[in-house]
Amino acid sequence: MEELKEVLAEKIRETEKVIQNYLPEEAGQQKRIMEAMNYSIHAGGKRLRPLLMMETCRLFGGDLREVKPFMAALEMIHTSSLIHDDLPCMDNDEYRRGKKSTWAAFGEAMGVLAGDALLVEAFAAAAKSFLYTANPERAGRAIGILAEKTGIYGMIGGQVVDVERTNQPLSEEQIDFIYRLKTGALLEAAMMIGAVLAGAEDKDVKRVSQIALNVGLAFQIQDDILDITSSQEVLGKPVGSDEKNQKTTYATLKGLEAARAQVKALSDEAVREIRALPGTNVFLEKLILMLITREK
Ligand code: IPE
Ligand code: IPE
Ligand code: MG
Ligand code: MG
Ligand code: MG
Repeated sequence: MEELKEVLAEKIRETEKVIQNYLPEEAGQQKRIMEAMNYSIHAGGKRLRPLLMMETCRLFGGDLREVKPFMAALEMIHTSSLIHDDLPCMDNDEYRRGKKSTWAAFGEAMGVLAGDALLVEAFAAAAKSFLYTANPERAGRAIGILAEKTGIYGMIGGQVVDVERTNQPLSEEQIDFIYRLKTGALLEAAMMIGAVLAGAEDKDVKRVSQIALNVGLAFQIQDDILDITSSQEVLGKPVGSDEKNQKTTYATLKGLEAARAQVKALSDEAVREIRALPGTNVFLEKLILMLITREK
């Protein structure tokens, strides 16, 4: 376990170096927005999505150089989603990744703009992949996946329903829909892009998408559990945010015990399906299992 944590820490450092290459230099009259973008990315985070992308690419024997612009792009999109999620008009949360959330540190207008900017610069980063790749067709498909899983059929679509249904009792099906989109979709993008860039067959990309959805559902349910059971010191973001915003979550609907069991069941299922793929990546399996008991 200790060794696994060291390997993970090293991979996170590697991922952060990759992301750094795509961040803006803080200069010019619009310097403030670059500061806000860099602030939110540098605040930390688990870097789960780029890690899943890299490890899925590795599982299918891909060239890891090809995946780097997309690793940066996805972390920028994810960070943009967090900046907007924290805004007063959304979850109204003042802390994120152990620091003041971007709007709380830079003001609301800059929060909106920094989120927008990271979203757009993410696609600029992804487009750079055409400069290096020997497989432009795969890179094109990857950009399409990135857009689809970010937009109205992905993360943004899920956030829309999450916001609209606030204050309302939700059925398990409605919660499932929200989680698949708001959280599952970016994890799907992570693993699907890793697979596509490595040249995986279409049928395997579909299987990977299913696996990622299960990991995403488990991840959001665990996020809901931690919102109830953890502390701001550990999480780096406020606890009780869901209750404050009167959100029905899987944990409030089913209870903590059932929620924990579901996290484990979905994660175990994902790992079983990973083992059935052509290719092996034991680290990826362990990473997904580690998420079951994650404390932040
Ligand atoms: C938080 O994501 C938002 C959810 C989808 C639950 P993470 O828990 O991955 O946030 P960071 O990147 O580690 O800050
Ligand atoms: C947000 O879900 C998922 C996103 C797309 C940002 P939450 O609102 O539960 O995420 P946290 O708890 O603020 O990180
Ligand atoms: Mg939210
Ligand atoms: Mg939130
Ligand atoms: Mg949450």
